Amino acid sequence: MANEDKEKGCLTNCLTTRRQFLSISGGAIATATILLSGIPGFGTKKVEAVVSKYPRQKIGKLSALKQDAPVSFAYPSKDINNMLVKLGVPAGGGIGPNMDVVAFNPVCTHMGGPLAKAYNAKHKILGQCPFHQSTFDLTRHGMIVCGHATESLPQIQLEVEGDDIYATGVIGLVFGRSSNI
Ligand code: FES
Repeated sequence: MANEDKEKGCLTNCLTTRRQFLSISGGAIATATILLSGIPGFGTKKVEAVVSKYPRQKIGKLSALKQDAPVSFAYPSKDINNMLVKLGVPAGGGIGPNMDVVAFNPVCTHMGGPLAKAYNAKHKILGQCPFHQSTFDLTRHGMIVCGHATESLPQIQLEVEGDDIYATGVIGLVFGRSSNI
């Protein structure tokens, strides 16, 4: 079986066995509905997500991004480093003309493994985690593809205004923290 087929098979198992997509986070909380569409075999599903809103912060420019070349930025506090990447394919929560610019906190939700340098451009995933091999799908809100983790990667909510990219909130909780700020 090809690697791509294995990953898709694993993604199917992860999606069908998970009870909860997103964890409850601290800070100002608002409930949002995320539509997961275009996933083979799943059609469109409505999933309730808990979102923490933080002050809007400019984090970059669309014109400065190169496809599959992640850049880091701090948000919502100076000690939380995240990853901004132009995937080249439309993604859940993506912004820009092609809805392909997304941002995530690259700390594994299992036991805090470092994922910032584990971007896989071919499959648009983050991983494998060097600790226990978890991988996360950046086109589907950071959902788990395979591995020990049970929670999606925290996704940074983005907005675009002209060429400027702003962070406005976080879906989920950064590993090891009781609050994202
Ligand atoms: S810390 Fe990443 S899979 Fe365990």
